[in-house]
Amino acid sequence: MTAALGACTKSPQETAKGEGGSTAAPAPVDPETAKILASLPAPYNTADLENGQRKFALCRSCHTITEGGANMTGPNLHGVFGRKAGTHEKFRYSQAVLNAGFVWDAEHLDKWLQDPRGFLPGNRMSFLGVKDEKDRIDLIAYLKVESGYKPGG
Ligand code: HEC
Repeated sequence: MTAALGACTKSPQETAKGEGGSTAAPAPVDPETAKILASLPAPYNTADLENGQRKFALCRSCHTITEGGANMTGPNLHGVFGRKAGTHEKFRYSQAVLNAGFVWDAEHLDKWLQDPRGFLPGNRMSFLGVKDEKDRIDLIAYLKVESGYKPGG
């Protein structure tokens, strides 16, 4: 079958080969992914998951998102929505994140990704931020769909 977005976190070369036929068309979103997407609050419900996936390339050098994925420079992000900041076991966070005291949701993620340093001064995520608002919307929707978020959860 044509790769669904949810199963399509491999490199483009890997997903493109072995299909035989035309691979020019964008991968369709599988029904389950579409359902999760539709359940998100606006504006995330109309996000472009493919763009979100592309933007996640900015995070990949430091973060895994799959269930049970390794901590790298940054903590594994599976299940990050609804998780209190700084509480992934076995990851040593900075005091800035440990003291943050909030639970990750789209709004906090949006502020964090826009300007990590300004949002939580003293944190150790050396990342300049994603300045384009639409890119952040797409990325956050992608993170929700990929990190095990369940509709209503
Ligand atoms: C250069 C490495 C690096 C990059 C690139 C990076 N991060 Fe991070 N990230 C970190 C580190 C290190 C921490 C822990 C920060 C701390 O403890 O101060 C972190 C923490 C986080 C947290 C908080 C997790 C928790 O458990 O509280 C989130 C969410 C996050 N990053 C998302 C992202 C996203 C999304 C991107 C891409 C847009 C990204 N990061 C890019 C290194 C990185």
